[in-house]
Amino acid sequence: MRTPLVAGNWKMNGSRESVKELINGVVEGAKSLNGVEVAVCPPFIYIADVTAVAGGTNVSVGSQDVCTELKGAFTGETSIDMIKDFGCQYAIVGHSERRTLYGETDDVVAEKFAVVKNSGIIPIFCIGETLEEREGGITEEVCARQIDAVFSSQGDDAFADSVIAYEPVWAIGTGKTASPEQAQSVHAFIRQHIAKRNAVIAEKVQILYGGSMNPANAKELIGQTDIDGGLIGGASLKTEDFLAVCQAGQ
Ligand code: 13P
Repeated sequence: MRTPLVAGNWKMNGSRESVKELINGVVEGAKSLNGVEVAVCPPFIYIADVTAVAGGTNVSVGSQDVCTELKGAFTGETSIDMIKDFGCQYAIVGHSERRTLYGETDDVVAEKFAVVKNSGIIPIFCIGETLEEREGGITEEVCARQIDAVFSSQGDDAFADSVIAYEPVWAIGTGKTASPEQAQSVHAFIRQHIAKRNAVIAEKVQILYGGSMNPANAKELIGQTDIDGGLIGGASLKTEDFLAVCQAGQ
């Protein structure tokens, strides 16, 4: 069986003070958790403060993005080696905010995925459809296209030691959650799509749901057969709410 993973994506929120308070609370509360993996993804500039507290505990740390390049003249970017240097075990790639607000194409996301994979860090690879795409009946087509970009560059075993996050764009930060049935149906599709390439990896890969997951809806969502945890935005910024979602994953 797959162990659920609950990961907090803090996005561009918090101050140095509030982030320290948040990670201290999460680490303290996570001590009593069993049977669920926990991770937080702070803004880059706070990663060092967060790993100073979370290092050696059962709370892992991840970055929210990574540069496609390994080093050099890329002003403002952060390389995978730098992320690794600060003790991160995960790196989010292809979040819909990166795709829509910063123009990251499927190919750019696939490049980022490769860079993370090759470094031994676990990619949290985000996919998902917009409202228009859902209403147009092409949710599965969109998810398949986003996944296939990674298969094209990384081959059939691409998703070994990786995490996938299905985040319907219309559910992110809107308070509108996909129903457990809607989410399960897409998660099952994603797993089947991966199984066409490698059935063993498809069975193992954790597929997280993201999009307005909170303490009230987490248990039912994570209870679905193919939902292996959550990628949490807003609710990960409050210690109690985040820990309640983690508990729902137990
Ligand atoms: P919300 O939980 O705020 O909807 O954000 C989800 C998300 O984008 C996590 O990456």
